[in-house]
Amino acid sequence: MTTAIIGTGGLGSVIARQLASGGETLRLSSADTESARTLAAQIGRAAVVAVDNRDALRGAGAVVLALRFTVLKGVIAEIADPLTGKLVVVPSNPLSTDAHGNVTRVLPEGQSSGKVVAGWLPTGTRLAMAFGTMSADLFESASNRSPEPAVLFYASDDGRAGEEVERLIRTAGFEPVKAGGIEQSGRLEVGGDLHDLVVGPAEARSLIGGA
Ligand SMILES: NC(=O)c1ccc[n+]([C@@H]2O[C@H](COP(=O)([O-])OP(=O)(O)OC[C@H]3O[C@@H](n4cnc5c(N)ncnc54)[C@H](OP(=O)(O)O)[C@@H]3O)[C@@H](O)[C@H]2O)c1
Repeated sequence: MTTAIIGTGGLGSVIARQLASGGETLRLSSADTESARTLAAQIGRAAVVAVDNRDALRGAGAVVLALRFTVLKGVIAEIADPLTGKLVVVPSNPLSTDAHGNVTRVLPEGQSSGKVVAGWLPTGTRLAMAFGTMSADLFESASNRSPEPAVLFYASDDGRAGEEVERLIRTAGFEPVKAGGIEQSGRLEVGGDLHDLVVGPAEARSLIGGA
């Protein structure tokens, strides 16, 4: 199946490599296409570079918006029409980094990225907050763990989105565990109790229950 990945930086490139190694076909897009081209060359035949963000969605059933929170709203507005009917996966934490590398939270405490992004999406899209629950390095090293797979938590209000993101999570080499609806997505984000955890399914389910 085909998934679009918009944003091929630190996290998007790792997600793309993991999905491609699990058999997914990818359409890649980035701000100036250079990083998307470099990544597509590394991945090989499973990845093509789209002309622009809208073109990335052509023929894709799902899109991962691997973008910094501060550019998400603008990109969603740019691709709003072709987003209809697709699974939208968002890994973004509500953070901003200044020119000196200082990281600050851009939403008030208690307000999650998931809740805000849900309000930006056009009607008819299916949102899952996923793939941003651990650092890119940890994501890469914890994938395809054996004998017990590591868990990737996700949050969604939509049953079909849940099934679709679970397929992507398995393709990337993890076991999916739902933390709850979008109102639970703060638990997955930076500062949340489920962020940056590498756990197996049994521990994951007990953590969910223990909220
Ligand atoms: N990195 C991590 O370890 C990590 C872990 C968990 C969650 N996250 C979340 O994942 C998101 C991405 O983080 P990152 O570290 O991957 O950021 P990053 O390295 O800065 O990459 C951002 C990507 O977005 C692309 N981009 C920027 N504006 C765009 C636009 N208008 N249209 C299309 N692409 C655009 C950039 O394109 P160019 O390459 O052309 O500049 C770049 O490929 C963030 O919200 C972060 O909170 C990151």
